[in-house]
Amino acid sequence: MQTDQMSISTTVTSASKLASLDLDNLQFGKVFADHMLVMDYENGAWQEPKILPYGPIEVSPAMAALHYGQALFEGMKAYKNQQGQVQLFRPQANWARLNESAKRLCMPEIPEEVFMEGLKQLISLDADWVPQRAGFSLYIRPFMFGSEGLLGVRPADQYKFMVFCSPASSYYAEPVRVKIEEHYTRAVEGGFGFAKAAGNYGGSLLPAKLANEQGFHQIIWTDGREHNYIEESGTMNVMFVLDGTLVTPALSTSILAGITRDSVLQLARDWGMKVEERRIPIKEIVDAYHSGKLEDAFGTGTAATIAHIKSIMHQDLEMMLLPVAERKFSNKVSQELDNIRYGISPDPHGWMVPVQ
Ligand code: COI
Repeated sequence: MQTDQMSISTTVTSASKLASLDLDNLQFGKVFADHMLVMDYENGAWQEPKILPYGPIEVSPAMAALHYGQALFEGMKAYKNQQGQVQLFRPQANWARLNESAKRLCMPEIPEEVFMEGLKQLISLDADWVPQRAGFSLYIRPFMFGSEGLLGVRPADQYKFMVFCSPASSYYAEPVRVKIEEHYTRAVEGGFGFAKAAGNYGGSLLPAKLANEQGFHQIIWTDGREHNYIEESGTMNVMFVLDGTLVTPALSTSILAGITRDSVLQLARDWGMKVEERRIPIKEIVDAYHSGKLEDAFGTGTAATIAHIKSIMHQDLEMMLLPVAERKFSNKVSQELDNIRYGISPDPHGWMVPVQ
């Protein structure tokens, strides 16, 4: 069926998969909502976006994304509040970060109104896919890639911007064991670690796989120059509470500017907590552990939300953290973020944006 909903041409699926959605047995990223947004960049301009049934797309085997890594993505979420209203969490922040990534990878930026309107219409159409259940949401994956078929190494002149969605609960099913990585490097100053570039994730797979084989859920990356300073974890930013102060690595060209990271820092500041964004030597974490000042450690991310860190391995020392039930800050901030997202607490910073 073809409809002309506002300015976005929409083809509604005739084979919805919604009836087979099983929230009790949901695995992250395995089930996709019925529709997707597609927009092509050609002849120096973004063309009209379209909403289509979710499904395969045709690409050139020579496309730039496959050969030279011109590919980036975003991760964001929609929540259904107690009144059944669907809201996006901080979508403008994702739009801004997507365009920062695009600039670094020589890709065209997306106009804000196209991003916002495209999302709103897509999520409105698939609103029944947004679970109304505590701890659940609709994970949204905007992404862009160089689609021109070319063999020369230069920015492509054709791109695809797409968005699809996947109902989700937590990414990590339990508190995570992490290992401080001192051999492999995720990103260096001057590189593109700050961008949500597909290549950053490809390069992380081997170190993460080796850590998994040793029984760790994730690694904590350290700086690429000395391997002395904490950077971020595989799928999230990382934070510590050291003697009552919330401490996290300062943003740099090698660290992703997480939106959950920013939200946690904002709430901590709202509550009058001392917050420090700075370099964190590994030694400081080890010393804090030995002196009983390592009070909390957790990851922050869209998919991961607030992921409690159970233990941190550094060389031969496994630093065991407090049982999760005894963690004051990470539990409080996790609860408050959820309360804002599900419309239980007020939203003083205007983070929630209705789609309908
Ligand atoms: C996210 O938190 O949205 C991420 O991008 C992490 C991961 C699923 C790749």
